[in-house]
Amino acid sequence: MDGDQDATPHPMRNIVLIGFMGSGKSTIGRKLNKNLGYSHIDTDHAIEKLAGKTIPEIFKQDGEEAFRKLETQILEDMVLQKTTHHIISTGGGMTARLENQILLRQLGFVVWLSCTPEDILARTSRNTNRPLLQCDDPMRAITKLLAERSPDYKKTAHMEITTTELKFSEISCGILESARYHFGSEAELP
Ligand code: S3P
Repeated sequence: MDGDQDATPHPMRNIVLIGFMGSGKSTIGRKLNKNLGYSHIDTDHAIEKLAGKTIPEIFKQDGEEAFRKLETQILEDMVLQKTTHHIISTGGGMTARLENQILLRQLGFVVWLSCTPEDILARTSRNTNRPLLQCDDPMRAITKLLAERSPDYKKTAHMEITTTELKFSEISCGILESARYHFGSEAELP
């Protein structure tokens, strides 16, 4: 992670949200969409549309690796199409592949929404649409995966925001301020 501006200009001015399941990426993505007017792309939704089935169905019928390939495909498509001025929220495992880490940074300003395992458990325990947490001991799964993934989140992100104890409006304001700085003062961010 670095706070520096990249040496190369940013042809793609997107705000990309990464982080663990339940870290608030989709909610913050919608909030930024409202505040900024940039369209919101949720990669999980894009994958479900592409595959014509839900994420649990993809995991069950085709396996996790097939899902990971679709994640990479979605990012590649966005880079090829030079997608710009969008808020892009990603699935919690998106940074596991090195190629995805590179694609994510090509897409724009990458923000890691970090949070504690306790927050994650509280936010994810009520729904069953996350195959990786459908197990006897979700807290154990969260702690293990979070430890494995945190170095990748850190490496991929330009900025980390610890979401614990912050309101969604505070998080979204912080992201907007930092994105303006990252893209340069000429950015057309409000
Ligand atoms: C996953 C996170 C999910 C979804 C899939 C796999 C993961 O997205 O992509 O269930 O590997 O962490 P959210 O982070 O939006 O829940």
